[in-house]
Formats: sequence, C-alpha cells, structure tokens
Amino acid sequence: MMLPASRMGQVRKSLLRTYAEKAPNGAINLGLGQLEFPLPESVRQAGIRALQDGHTRYSPNAGFAELRQLVAENCNAERGTDFTAGNVIINCGAEEALFAALFALVDQGDKAVILEPAYPAYAPILQALGAQVNMVRMAEAGIDFTRLESAARDAKAVILNFPNNPTGAILPKKQAAELAALAERHGFAVISDEVYSALYYEERNFSPAIGTDQAIIIDGISKRASAAGLRLGWTIAPLSIARQLEAAHQYLTTCASSVSQAAAMAALADKRHEQAFRHALQQRRDAMWDEFRHWQVGRAAKPGGAFYFFPDLSELGSGTELADQALANGVSVIPGEAFGNAGNGHLRLSFTAAPEEIREGMRRIAEAIL
Ligand SMILES: Cc1ncc(COP(=O)(O)O)c(C=O)c1O
Repeated sequence: MMLPASRMGQVRKSLLRTYAEKAPNGAINLGLGQLEFPLPESVRQAGIRALQDGHTRYSPNAGFAELRQLVAENCNAERGTDFTAGNVIINCGAEEALFAALFALVDQGDKAVILEPAYPAYAPILQALGAQVNMVRMAEAGIDFTRLESAARDAKAVILNFPNNPTGAILPKKQAAELAALAERHGFAVISDEVYSALYYEERNFSPAIGTDQAIIIDGISKRASAAGLRLGWTIAPLSIARQLEAAHQYLTTCASSVSQAAAMAALADKRHEQAFRHALQQRRDAMWDEFRHWQVGRAAKPGGAFYFFPDLSELGSGTELADQALANGVSVIPGEAFGNAGNGHLRLSFTAAPEEIREGMRRIAEAIL
C-alpha cells in the first residue's frame, strides 16, 4: 500500500469544493467562486492571436518581460506603489502564487497567522509546509489590531485577503497603514492576497504594500478579467525575496502558459471591462442586499468588494445545515464553516448571477431556512 507523506495528514479536499460540486443541474447557483461574464473581447483576441502566431513555447521562468513591466505599472497606478518588472513573477493563477510564496518564505515550525474567516487554501498549504498556523478572527469593523499584534509579534508571515472572500469586506486606508506599521515593528511578512483588487464598489481597497517593503502582493486575471480558466496570476515581492519566489515557481511549474500571458497583457492594456464588471456586480449586490433585508433575520455587513455576501444566520442553524436546506430547495450556496470556525452559522452567497436569478435564489433560500 502506498502511504502519503505524514505532512499531508491534515490536508483534505476543502468543504468549499465539496459544496461547489454538489450543485445539481438546474439549481440556482449562488455558490460560484468565479464570474460568469464572457471573456472581454480584446483578451479573447489576444489569446487567439498568440495561438495563431505560434507563441506556444516556454517563456522565461518569471514570465515575459513585457507582461512583468505591465503588471508593475498597473500595480503602481492602482495602489500608489513603486515597483518595477524585477519585483514581478508571473504565476499559474493566484493559487500557485500563494503556494510558491509560502514555500519560499516559511520554514518548518515557523508561525504563520491567518485572518479568519479565510479563503480555504491558506491553512492547508501552511500545514503541508509544516508551519504552525494561528487563526485570528476579524472583528465586525475589520482587523482587530490588538488580537493581531499579540498573535503576530513572533510570526514569520501574516496572510490576509482584501477585498475579502467570503465577507466582501475591503481594507480601508487607515487599516492598511496600521497593518504596514505593525509589520515594520515586528518584522513579519505580509502576504496580501489581492486577487479581487479590481472589484470594489463605493470605496476602493487599499494595499498594505504602500507602507512597508515587507509585503508580498498576489493578484491575477481570474477575477479582474473573468478569466479563471486561463490560470494566470502574479506575485509582486520585494527584491530581497523575489528570486527565491521565482525559483520556487520554476520548480513547481517552469512558467505560466504563454498564451495566457498574451491574454493577460491585453487585460491590463485596456481595462474598460473592469469598470463594466464593477457596475454590473454592484447592481447584483444591491439586488441580493435588498432581498436579504426582507428576511428580517440574520446579521451581515453590506459587501464593499469582491462578489460575496456572508450573513450570520447562526440563530437558525449551522452553515452546513442551512446550505443543505437551501440545496434541497434548488439553490447552491457554500456553508460558512468552509472558511474556518469564524464562519460557523454563516452562508457564503455569491452575487455573480443575473439580478433576477439572485432575487429568485434569495426567495428560495428564505423559504427553506426561515
Ligand atoms: C481569495 C482568493 N485567493 C486566491 C484565489 C485563486 O485565484 P486564481 O484563480 O488566480 O488561482 C481565489 C479564487 O477563488 C480566491 O478567492
């Protein structure tokens, strides 16, 4: 019998995936973690052209120089940072970027802090690396700095994600600056997963990388260009660690797809689709919020970014019980427990579907759980 490595002991398929795969045909899908918008035309054409012109060889490990330059310029314009192409590594999606960054940064036994509720990939990657994982709950108003400081003062890395999956919260300027100051004071690295950075509504999202050179930004085109299947993301890291990240990425996967890199160049060269996505998603969010207010039960903050809504319905049952009841009434959703203990009794509802479908889905959930 073949035995897995002992470090894989706690690493399992996530509850998120299990529920995402449960959606039967014909169900209204409020469980999706990806946009349903078609690929922007300029991005599609760039991919087709790359194939037709035979751009199907390996790229340099860190990605094509032109794309790395474009990523750096785009990051500086969006966030007010000061990066160059040398800071950028092109990855096979944010997921691979996360693995490569943590692989290059975290030693066995190192302490790593995750802000919770959290995207379910962070803890298993750290467990597979033999790190000691500490979860720190977010407060209603965002990061609880007292709790974070006591957990992170001896940590190697703090991993966070804004705009947030699953809560839809954004990181306001003041909190981004406070986090950067904390990283400076205690010397931990900030792994800032900003894969939803282009999707914000009333206020923009701020990156902690403005205030410290101890931050690693992770981003990509899955959410900003509705291109999750192209598997294209990137890491923006201080030069002191960038070459180690590049080496980790090299031995994981050599380089990202050349065709997807061509598509990513188009996605960053003309960003009009991002504005259109924000506009459409804001309407969908408002439709969901409006229906939720009729429930007169549960508590939730209105999402300021990403495309998720995370109501606390613990007075009605556990997240898995509620998700099963919703599914039995034809709506697929994700139980909050998929995002850690802080998600107990919550549901994650995606507002990627058309507004009418969202409204019908919310009515059916109410019928099932209230
Ligand atoms: C917070 C977060 N980080 C990373 C990822 C992975 O993104 P990618 O498709 O670029 O690998 C996702 C995907 O849903 C996500 O929600």
